Amino acid sequence: STEQYFSTELLAWYRLQKRDLPWRQNRDPYRIWVSEIMLQQTRVDTVIPYYLRFMEKFPTVRALAEAPEEEVLKCWEGLGYYSRARNLQAGARTVADLYDGIIPDDTASVSGLKGVGPYTTGAIMSIAFNRPEPAVDGNVMRVLSRYFCLEEDIARPATRVSIEKLAASLIPEGEAGDFNQALMELGALVCTPKSPGCLTCPVMEHCAARIAGRELELPVKTKA
Ligand code: ADE
Repeated sequence: STEQYFSTELLAWYRLQKRDLPWRQNRDPYRIWVSEIMLQQTRVDTVIPYYLRFMEKFPTVRALAEAPEEEVLKCWEGLGYYSRARNLQAGARTVADLYDGIIPDDTASVSGLKGVGPYTTGAIMSIAFNRPEPAVDGNVMRVLSRYFCLEEDIARPATRVSIEKLAASLIPEGEAGDFNQALMELGALVCTPKSPGCLTCPVMEHCAARIAGRELELPVKTKA
């Protein structure tokens, strides 16, 4: 099926083409958490040096939990959206106090941490714990809207919910972490907003938007 083709080809492409990024060195849930919070509103190239400094200064949940807030904010200076840093530290304090400093392998507990929304929950559960949870951000909505030629407005919460169900259904058995990162990687490197690299896309053969010549019209998004 075109679903089976998508998952298989995308995963194979990712294994060959993935970037060697510092948060891909291991599956420590704390490292994944920090990276996903930094990456939410900031590009990979900008994040890398901040991420390396942050990990050096606060290498564990406990180190972050015990640091003075101003030290954390100083380390975040220049990244913007400072509530991300405050929420991350609040979350680290929760993990230190409630879970003995260990991020629990449990979706409900992770999603209850301050600043951790549905996307970040899915990213942590899949990348760190290999749980079959979707991790749908704007990039993933763009990739799936195009491949399946979905015309629903991605600004609508109901659309995100339906794309999350679709994304979950595409996860190959036992491959949640790599598959979700492969979707993000395709959105970042190939299936870009303005000039998608369809000619080098691993799934172009069955991409419905590409076949219809409509890749630049998708996804549909009303409000900014
Ligand atoms: N953007 C969001 N999460 C990412 C990740 N894990 N790797 C690369 N880009 C990302």
